[in-house]
Amino acid sequence: MNKLQTLRQKKEEAQLGGGKDKIEAQHKKGKLSARERIERLIDNGTFEEIGMLVTHRSNDFGLENQKIPGDGVVTGFGKINGRDVVIFSQDFSVLGGSLSEAHAEKICKIMDMAMKAGVPIIGLNDSGGARIQEGVVSLGGYADIFLRNTLASGVVPQISAILGPCAGGAVYSPAITDFIFMVKKTSYMFVTGPNVVKTVTREEVTSEELGGASTHSKLSGVAHVASENEEECFADIKKLLSFLPQNNSEKPPKVVTKDPVNRQEEKLEKIIPENPARPYDMKEIIFGCADHAEFFEVHKEFAKNIIVGFARFGGYAAGVIANQPKYLAGVLDNDASIKAARFIRFCDAFNIPLLTFVDVPGFMPGTEQEKHGIIRNGAKLLFAYCEATVPKITIITRKAYGGAYDVMSSKHIRGDMNFAWPSAEIAVMGPHGAAEIFLKKEIDKAKDKEKALAEKVKEYTEKFANPYAAAERGYIDDVIEPGETRLRIVRALEMLEHKVDTNPKKKHGNIPL
Ligand code: HXC
Repeated sequence: MNKLQTLRQKKEEAQLGGGKDKIEAQHKKGKLSARERIERLIDNGTFEEIGMLVTHRSNDFGLENQKIPGDGVVTGFGKINGRDVVIFSQDFSVLGGSLSEAHAEKICKIMDMAMKAGVPIIGLNDSGGARIQEGVVSLGGYADIFLRNTLASGVVPQISAILGPCAGGAVYSPAITDFIFMVKKTSYMFVTGPNVVKTVTREEVTSEELGGASTHSKLSGVAHVASENEEECFADIKKLLSFLPQNNSEKPPKVVTKDPVNRQEEKLEKIIPENPARPYDMKEIIFGCADHAEFFEVHKEFAKNIIVGFARFGGYAAGVIANQPKYLAGVLDNDASIKAARFIRFCDAFNIPLLTFVDVPGFMPGTEQEKHGIIRNGAKLLFAYCEATVPKITIITRKAYGGAYDVMSSKHIRGDMNFAWPSAEIAVMGPHGAAEIFLKKEIDKAKDKEKALAEKVKEYTEKFANPYAAAERGYIDDVIEPGETRLRIVRALEMLEHKVDTNPKKKHGNIPL
């Protein structure tokens, strides 16, 4: 065999990973192989592989007879929609995609490269975690990755897709990254799988219940997006990347839009119900204002009382945060506060302006919320908005009551452009609650208590349940007609494009975790 043939043979062997049978088994489960995934995600012909011939160095537990080139992970760089990324794709067909010392070194090598080059890191995870046979060196390998994930946080975007049963380090590394994508019915995330759970706690649980896409996208909030299949997952990752800059020294890409910036959305004039207690769908307002009604929602199924996601306005990308009156009246509870706080911090780290739509009755009271730390969690949201220095545009559509008024990107915490619709009610609390508390004595004295209450509610409503007291003080920059909201957002984004604001020099703040 000549030298060229030797090279070709080595590379062919590496292409097969754990072998045809194991790739077939992967397909039968509705999963693609590690290389097929890269082919689907990376622009045609742009993938450059690094470390294809790396093997592990272990001679314990028969591993000396299982040296497969690449050692269970395909690593390299390529382009997505013409923009550079580095990528690793774990190969479940090789020892369950488990992470050895050499496997970890391959991932660390491309992460270091991404940091120097300033490009996003994409991880396609399909791994049983630290390779058990290697002991502490595989644990050390994960720790090396965790450190790099942490140092890269806020410097380059890090995106994780979970594409199989992932355990141990294969969930903790993604958990440090910015966004986690899961695929329904084929991907699982848990500290350890159902068999070990049964041994340790005697609990019998299915993989789906323990850590399926449904558990993590609806209940725990660990996953940001749950896709129907791998193809859809890759399309979602591409869409997300289109809104992001390559690193924290760049701005998000601006695109040319054919959607007229002065498009008047008449249906917004009628969207707020006459009765302030009735719900409406805040997403209609987001769709009405966004370019081509396109909105990439993050955490769609988790804490539905707040909406977060990306959209463009006149070609400018923005992170949208909006209370959703359709769910729990848009109240801020523990999950909603954490969800929005994390999203805001991501946007601020990557120079993405914040657009906030407000209709919020306040923080959720009660023992359940207090037990789970609504004070600490609500404070996270407050902290995130206060520290954010990106352009901040706020639109109050209806209620902005109590502490929630302050929190939701108010003027006082460096909101740049604060608008209100004529339907806005900015007050310490709703008129009924207010009248019952501070006018209680007067009402009690009255002969007709109901009439007295109604009168006081009317008085309070006229005085405070409108945007004008706030506008008179300049807390609201302008009261605008709903139909012109899109135009006002675009103008504000344009004017604030080169905004500079800073926080005091410090090592880091102490967000109430
Ligand atoms: C070595 C592993 C492995 C591992 C799986 N395999 N996990 N080999 N180290 N961690 C191997 C299996 O032996 C098997 O090999 C093949 O991969 C496929 O695994 P199966 O169990 O047959 O597949 P499945 O039934 O789909 O179950 C997948 C699984 C399960 C849920 C991931 O294998 C599992 O529970 N593994 C252990 C997970 C775990 O506890 N990891 C924690 C590691 S500690 P053969 O040869 O039979 O095909 C860790 C610490 C990091 O990561 C630090 C955190 C802070």
